[in-house]
Amino acid sequence: MNCLSPSILAADFSILGEQLAQLDEAGAQYVHIDVMDGKFVPSISMGMPLIRSIRSCTDRMFDVHLMVEEPIRFLSDFAEAGADIITVHAEACTHLDRTIDTIKEKGLLAGVALNPSTPLETIRYVLSKVDMVLVMTVNPGYGGQLLIPYTVEKIKDLKQMLKKTGNKADIEVDGGVTLENVGLLLDAGANIIVAGSAVFQGEITENVSRFLQMLNS
Ligand code: DX5
Ligand code: ZN
Repeated sequence: MNCLSPSILAADFSILGEQLAQLDEAGAQYVHIDVMDGKFVPSISMGMPLIRSIRSCTDRMFDVHLMVEEPIRFLSDFAEAGADIITVHAEACTHLDRTIDTIKEKGLLAGVALNPSTPLETIRYVLSKVDMVLVMTVNPGYGGQLLIPYTVEKIKDLKQMLKKTGNKADIEVDGGVTLENVGLLLDAGANIIVAGSAVFQGEITENVSRFLQMLNS
């Protein structure tokens, strides 16, 4: 199934509750929450208190993207705060296998993210235990960047790799996704679509409806 995961990094935090209600009403299935630690990526964004406080605003899946060094240190905290899916970066985990196992032990869905230049080979042996692979289509750290064109090839390669190994993991794409390029990403094999600026700039409900039309066509 194709799902839209609007990234609240691009939201107006002074009216976040209202904007979450708009996403909900328009039918976006997930809420993408970008957690940045100022070390793995050059910026700092949001953390557990925010997730805890917006948990009561919506029942949608909380898709928590941890751009954090050694995220294994914080998995219990994010689980308690209300995450449904926790995605960690392969580049940020000394023990990726153990980190994935710990997410699963908490009863959550586990995702692994790869920076644009990280080879798919990095995750070959853990593919069977992850629920989602996040292909970063920009270098993580900021919203509003342009999609790196070669990442489309990487999505296609991942789709093939999953097919060959008989794995059913979802393919999520994140960074620089627009209404203009989403068709290309869906064709390449992505089925969970993150969009920040393209959802929150302008009319949120209209933007979500347009994305959902593309995702359902
Ligand atoms: C980038 C974040 C993204 C970001 C996407 O480091 O992981 O989720 O919010 O924003 P847009 O869609 O504006 O590129
Ligand atoms: Zn993200």
